[in-house]
Amino acid sequence: MKTLVVYYSFEGNTQFAAEQIAQKLGADVLKLKAENEPPRNFLKFLAGGKSVIRGEKAYLDRFDEDPAEYDLIVIGTPIWAGRITPAVREFALEHPFEGKKVGLFACSASGEAAPALDNLRSLLSGNEVAATLSLRNPLKYANKTAIQIDQFVNELLRAL
Ligand SMILES: Cc1cc2nc3c(=O)[nH]c(=O)nc-3n(C[C@H](O)[C@H](O)[C@H](O)COP(=O)(O)O)c2cc1C
Repeated sequence: MKTLVVYYSFEGNTQFAAEQIAQKLGADVLKLKAENEPPRNFLKFLAGGKSVIRGEKAYLDRFDEDPAEYDLIVIGTPIWAGRITPAVREFALEHPFEGKKVGLFACSASGEAAPALDNLRSLLSGNEVAATLSLRNPLKYANKTAIQIDQFVNELLRAL
């Protein structure tokens, strides 16, 4: 069984979670990098929020991984303005795959991630979503995050 963990992370929280999930699943890792990102200052909320609300396209760096080669694909995104990030949306839209088991996770500061995960699920119709996970500030709440990740990974493994 081959597993790929795909994620975008602007400030490290999603990366922190993705690396733990990948390690537990023995997965390959694809870190999405976008050429157009918000500035790394207080304007990030304005720019990032605007980009998701307007549905702006993310220009992803090229990558070699082919989702078609994997049985299980785990996708992680930060929550921006209540939604998935442009980078993860772009990946789902422009690198479509079908017939896979999928795990979805999102990292937010305090907000509700379920609607964003539902949206991501709808972009991936044709696949079976085996588990979802919403994390709050994983870098800050590392112990709680580790427990949640264990549950998520176990759910994924049970679905295989
Ligand atoms: C542009 C932008 C918009 C955000 N919008 C939300 C939001 O709507 N709700 C929320 O709870 N957190 C929001 N956050 C916080 C991030 O979702 C949270 O810090 C997440 O853990 C960041 O993941 P990362 O460190 O992998 O980038 C936002 C952060 C940014 C930069």
